[in-house]
Amino acid sequence: MKGIILAGGSGSRLSPLTKVICKQLLPIYDKPLIYYPLSVLMLSGIRDILMITTPKDLDAFKELFKDGRHLGLNISYAIQEKPKGIPEAFIIGEKFIDGKPVCLILGDNIFYGEGIPAYLKEISSLQNGACLFGYYVKDPERYGVAELDKQGKVRSIEEKPKQPKSNYAITGLYYYDKQVVEFAKSLQPSKRGELEITDLNAIYLQKEQLRLEILGRGVAWLDTGTHESLHDASKFVEVIESRQGLKIACIEEIAYLMKYINQEQFVSLIEDYPQSQYRAYLQSILTRECV
Ligand code: DAU
Repeated sequence: MKGIILAGGSGSRLSPLTKVICKQLLPIYDKPLIYYPLSVLMLSGIRDILMITTPKDLDAFKELFKDGRHLGLNISYAIQEKPKGIPEAFIIGEKFIDGKPVCLILGDNIFYGEGIPAYLKEISSLQNGACLFGYYVKDPERYGVAELDKQGKVRSIEEKPKQPKSNYAITGLYYYDKQVVEFAKSLQPSKRGELEITDLNAIYLQKEQLRLEILGRGVAWLDTGTHESLHDASKFVEVIESRQGLKIACIEEIAYLMKYINQEQFVSLIEDYPQSQYRAYLQSILTRECV
């Protein structure tokens, strides 16, 4: 399966933080925000990744990740000229997708919880239809919202409804089969002038090819859409990391533990880092005893 990280947008809601740095490169405690969604793809076993960003931010992403080979990944890049909607990722990425199933993750979404990697690995074998993830939130009106029947099957999905039909928000992690490019091309812009991911999902729903998995209470899906939630996400990561002494979304560690790179490559990654707490952490992995 291929993976796309959508890391464009204007980030205007976080201004002035995003005046010269894009949202996905802002720090979440000790690393850039985009490390978190990238780590989700890596933990799912997805190594062929397209990053879509703005013309202005492309160079920064390239400098950060290069072609991904040092992490055992194959990272390529594409530009979204204007934020014309999330499904445009599939039109921009058509060649990259190359008729294969694809996972899209929004570059500002953070997921954390025991069991997520194993769970995602299973979903990433998807060949038919679409799979979305629902998460119970207290403010569903800020998201795509799923209406469920008594069996937990999706009845409808609405984008930022004033009167949500449930508390289940649709997260920014989506798995689609090869039909996705064709379906994305058939969409028309909404009233706000964007292609809507909710309209794309409605096509799968109408064809009865949509599966919704509920992420339970043991999983954290963190928001980064406001100054408060951005700060909360940093605090969350800090609390867990300080308690355990283990990092969340440390992409070098994941590359090593997933065996995308061998020990020699990992050591050379460490040597590329300047003396820092991050480097010391990477160094400690070589001698750590942890299951
Ligand atoms: O986070 C999950 C939510 O993401 C879903 O529940 C909603 O259904 C979905 O529409 C989306 O809502 P947002 O209000 O968060 O969408 P936003 O426009 O903020 O875009 C989400 C991210 O995607 C953001 O980091 C910017 C990026 N983006 C967005 C658009 C529309 C792009 O890179 N290009 C775009 O054209």
